[in-house]
Formats: sequence, structure tokens, C-alpha cells
Amino acid sequence: MPAIIDKIKRLFHPHSEVFDHDKVFVIFVLGGPGAGKGTQCAKLVQEFGFSHLSAGDLLRAEQNREGSQYGELIRQNIREGKIVPSEVTVGLLRNAIAAELEKRKENTEQGWGDGKGRFLVDGFPRQMDQAHIFDEQVCESKFVLFFVTSEEVLLQRLLERGKTSGREDDNEESIKKRFKTFVETSMPVVEYYKKHDKVIEIDATKSIDDVYTHTSAAVRERLSI
Ligand code: C5P
Ligand code: MG
Repeated sequence: MPAIIDKIKRLFHPHSEVFDHDKVFVIFVLGGPGAGKGTQCAKLVQEFGFSHLSAGDLLRAEQNREGSQYGELIRQNIREGKIVPSEVTVGLLRNAIAAELEKRKENTEQGWGDGKGRFLVDGFPRQMDQAHIFDEQVCESKFVLFFVTSEEVLLQRLLERGKTSGREDDNEESIKKRFKTFVETSMPVVEYYKKHDKVIEIDATKSIDDVYTHTSAAVRERLSI
């Protein structure tokens, strides 16, 4: 959208973003559990210098942080495959973005420096309220990368990963609950962004490199580099 129209729109719908979306480029990364979001993000970090923030990883770190008031709440929700209350997750993401912008403020490579930055927010938003809170109060996202494959493929990958991941939720019982939450609670988020023409859907069934060919092209086009 031309910058002037964007500015006029914002005049009538003032958002109180913490980070200016003209400077901070946020991509949401969604897909069922085991779709390969983290793997694809790691490759995007290498190629384009993104900062990769996984909502699940941030929650697990907070759960294990000594003295955290949210530890038990997070553990219970993760084991049950449920969504942790949004304020907790949004707060962690907001702090992580601020810390990263501060850390990289002197380094002007690949879209960084001077308050600018580019972020992959992985596994988020998983629930409609998270989408609104983040877009309006943290930083308006540019688009959603959505990785799609069948539940059979997801289940096989997660059971394989569960042999070594040490994650309490990579077992068949938790996985079934996570699938249910994904369909009932997270798919409406994808549908919402689809209506706004903000979803790039990528077939995540094939090999990591095949999937990445599509991922990389889609991101490159939108970063206009
Ligand atoms: O993305 P990942 O599979 O690592 O997420 C693990 C768990 O963390 C989810 O099943 C859910 O319990 C929790 N989570 C959440 N809200 C998010 C992301 C993850 O509650 N936005
Ligand atoms: Mg992940």
C-alpha cells in the first residue's frame, strides 16, 4: 500500500504500537505442530538475517526460569496442548523484540540498526486475541507464512522428534490435544489473515530443502531485495 494511504488510515485508526511497523518487519510463522516452522526459520535467519523468536521456546524458557510466577501455569497448558494466556506470551515476545533491537542497534547489516529490524515470530498468533493484541499494540505484522501438511505426516515427525527432543508434549497423547487446539483455535487465525490477503501458504510435505526453495522465494519477493 502506498505510504500516504497507510498514513491517512493510521490517522483515523490510531494504533498504539510499541514498535513502528515501518521500521520493524514482522512475519508470523504458522502451521500445525511438526510442520517444520523452526527448521525453515533457521534457514531464513541464515539467508536474510532475521531474528527468530519462537513463542513456544520463549514459553519453555520462562517456565524453567527460576522465580517465574508463570512456570506452573505454562507447564500445565503446554502438557495439555492448550494456549497459555495471551498476556504472558505477548509480554515475552515484546521483551524479546526490544532486547534484540537494542542489541543490534549499531549493526546496520541486513535491515537492522537505528531501531530497524526483521523478525520471524514462530508459532504465533495461535489464538485470535493474540493476533489483535500484537498487531495493534506491539507491531503490525506484514504477512503470515503458513506451512501445510497432513496430520499423518505431522504425527510421524513429532514422534520421531520425541525420541530426542526431551519435550514433555512430544508424546502421542499430548500431540492429539495439540492437533485439536490447532484446528479449533489456531486455524481461525489463519482464516482471518487469509481474508485480509496476508497468508502465504507453503506445502510442507516435501524435504526441508524443497520446502525452503518456496519459503525463500516468497520472503525474498516481499522484502523486495
Ligand atoms: O510452537 P510449539 O509447538 O513449540 O508450542 C508448544 C506449546 O506452547 C503449545 O502447544 C502451547 O501450549 C504453547 N503455546 C501457546 N501460545 C503460543 C505458542 C505456543 O500457548 N502462541
Ligand atoms: Mg517450534
